Amino acid sequence: MQKLIAAIALAFLSQPAFAEEAPKWSIAIHGGAGTLDPDTMTPERRAEYEAALQVALDAGAKVLAEGGSAMDAVKAAIIPMEDSPLFNAGRGAVFTWDGTNELDSSIMDGRDRSAGAVAGVKTVRNPILLADTVRTQSEHVMLMGAGAEAFAAEKGFAVTPPEYFATPARAEALERMKARKLSALDVDHKFGTVGAVALDQNGNLAAGTSTGGMTGKRWGRVGDAPVIGAGTYADNRACAVSATGWGEYFLRVGVAHEICARLRATNEAKAAMAEGDETAKPVERDEAQYIADAVMADVKSLGGDGGVILVTPEGHAIFSFNTTGMYRGRATSAGVSEVAIFGGEATASVTTDH
Ligand code: GLY
Repeated sequence: MQKLIAAIALAFLSQPAFAEEAPKWSIAIHGGAGTLDPDTMTPERRAEYEAALQVALDAGAKVLAEGGSAMDAVKAAIIPMEDSPLFNAGRGAVFTWDGTNELDSSIMDGRDRSAGAVAGVKTVRNPILLADTVRTQSEHVMLMGAGAEAFAAEKGFAVTPPEYFATPARAEALERMKARKLSALDVDHKFGTVGAVALDQNGNLAAGTSTGGMTGKRWGRVGDAPVIGAGTYADNRACAVSATGWGEYFLRVGVAHEICARLRATNEAKAAMAEGDETAKPVERDEAQYIADAVMADVKSLGGDGGVILVTPEGHAIFSFNTTGMYRGRATSAGVSEVAIFGGEATASVTTDH
């Protein structure tokens, strides 16, 4: 009981200082969660990340403000993060043990729960676009490796040379890992996966996630990012979720679907208990925050860390992470547009546990 009260109190503390009307549209993004320390990040580096997050946020917000779909907004926000070497997705992806960059991505439409995903692709500049093409132009949900690349070629995707994805910083992280027998967590410090969730003016939700995985991954390892229900989920009846973190734990908890399922069940229970009372409200911000925090606490209880972003049908953007920071941002039709990096900064965010 004490935990419940503490969680709700934290959620209230995380509210923005201004009253928010239900927005017509809403978008949230992340560029990874992890061990981020304001004392060790130079102002220049911080400004670089904030600018890159703002570019992604603005790209998604523009689509929504102009009446575009949540799906298009999610892609528009993720593409610049895949193109930026700052994030572990697309260009700037971490290296596998064998010195390659293998990319994973997924996307889901909350209208009909159609979904697409790719894993282990090496020559597709924007894996989020290939994931969406799997969704719209194949009978499948998930394609992997050489098969996914053959599909990409058939659908007209240009072959991007593998060198495009490789950056010196990521190569150095692999070298350091091998030389000092370190773990991926020691060298990555953060899970730089990127993602976006959106509500459009027609009330539709969408979610997308893209990553290079974890430094030194071997044997065709795949994390949560391309797995529908683990790293990505969207359902108009509940919410849209994108995750970033230690993929093995997010897979075991089924994080994105678990959050959506709890929200949907809460909505259904509230509607049933209201017995036709038209003033009955769907899941409110504090309840959605509580649900996200509870699922992240479950990840933590198994030993995993990371974070999630979600947007509800009412436009509440929720952030929950159990790391010291998460690159993140949100924008709404009510005029909110903000990015943040460390815990306790702007954006409705709660760190459940460090
Ligand atoms: N969350 C990304 C990964 O574990 O691959």
